Amino acid sequence: MTEEIARPVTIDEITCPVQADCEVSAVKRLSERLYELVMTAPELAVRARPGQFVHVLCGGETFLRRPISICDVSGGSLRLVFQVKGAGTAWLSERAPGDMLDVLGTLGNGFRLSGLGARPVFVGGGIGVPPLLLAMKAARAQGAAPAAILGFRSRSAVILESDFTALGNTEVTTDDGSYGIHGFVTGLLERREYTSVCACGPKGMLRAVAALAERAGVPCQVSLEERMGCGIGACLGCACALRDTDGGLRYGHVCKDGPVFDAKEVVWE
Ligand SMILES: Cc1cc2nc3c(=O)[nH]c(=O)nc-3n(C[C@H](O)[C@H](O)[C@H](O)COP(=O)(O)OP(=O)(O)OC[C@H]3O[C@@H](n4cnc5c(N)ncnc54)[C@H](O)[C@@H]3O)c2cc1C
Ligand code: FES
Repeated sequence: MTEEIARPVTIDEITCPVQADCEVSAVKRLSERLYELVMTAPELAVRARPGQFVHVLCGGETFLRRPISICDVSGGSLRLVFQVKGAGTAWLSERAPGDMLDVLGTLGNGFRLSGLGARPVFVGGGIGVPPLLLAMKAARAQGAAPAAILGFRSRSAVILESDFTALGNTEVTTDDGSYGIHGFVTGLLERREYTSVCACGPKGMLRAVAALAERAGVPCQVSLEERMGCGIGACLGCACALRDTDGGLRYGHVCKDGPVFDAKEVVWE
C-alpha cells in the first residue's frame, strides 16, 4: 500500500460530497411500485449521515439526477428504498446486480442527533419512511430508547416494518385499516410520550406532527421534499421560505440547508 493510500482520511474528505461509480449488488421489488436497491459505495458510506440523500444519475430519457434518501448503511454499502414515480425511478428499478450507477453524495443536512433525549419518536408517512431507519439506528446507538410510528395508505404500501421493529417499539397505521391500526400517525402520536420528534412524509402530515410536538413542548425536526436540479445549492430549483427565530422570512435551499429543518423554521402555507 502506498503512503498516499495509507494516510488517515481527513474531516474534509468525509464531509465533502463525492461523485462515485457504485456497483449495484441487489435490487428487490417490495410491492407493486416500491423497490429496494443496495449498492457498493464505500466512499459514500463513510460520509453518510441520517437524513442525507444521494443524487443518482438515471439513464433513459432523464437528464437531471434524482434525489433518493439514504435508508441504511452497512459496511461499505448503501441501501435505498424508492417508489417508481416517472422515468428516472422506473429506470432505477430496472437495474440489476453488476450494473454501475453514477452517484453524487452524500448531500444535505441530516437529522441533528444531539438533543433527541431519552425517548425520541420517529414518525414517517409512506415513502417518507426510509430515511428514518438510519436515524433511528443512530439514536439507538447513542443510548436512546427510540420508537417509531409509521403510516401507510394500505397494507400493500407497508415497508421496512421488521427493520424498525428490530430497533425499538414500532407502531404501524393504515389509512384504510387494512393493516395495523386504522387511522393516521397523528392519532397515535398525541397519545404517546416522547422527548423529541423526527418526521418525514407528506407536507400535511409534517405540519400536523409539528403542531403536536409544539403542543407537547418537545423539539421537532422535519425532512422536506422539493423537486431538485443540482442538489448542491447552485440552481435555486429547491428554494423554500424559512422563518428566522425573530419571525422574519428568508429563503433557503432544501438541498443544501435541509432537507431536514427544525419544524419552527418551516413556513407551512
Ligand atoms: C431530499 C429528497 C429525498 C428523497 N428521497 C426519496 C426516497 O428515499 N424514496 C423515494 O421514492 N423518493 C424520494 N424522493 C423523491 C424522488 O426524488 C422523486 O420521486 C424522483 O425524483 C422522481 O423522479 P422520476 O424521474 O421517477 O419522476 P418524474 O418524472 O421526475 O416525476 C414524476 C412525478 O413525481 C413528482 N416528483 C418528482 N420529484 C419530486 C419530488 N422531489 N418531490 C415530490 N414530487 C416529485 C413530479 O411532480 C411528477 O408528478 C426524494 C426527494 C427528495 C427531494
Ligand atoms: S436543487 Fe439546485 S439549489 Fe437545490
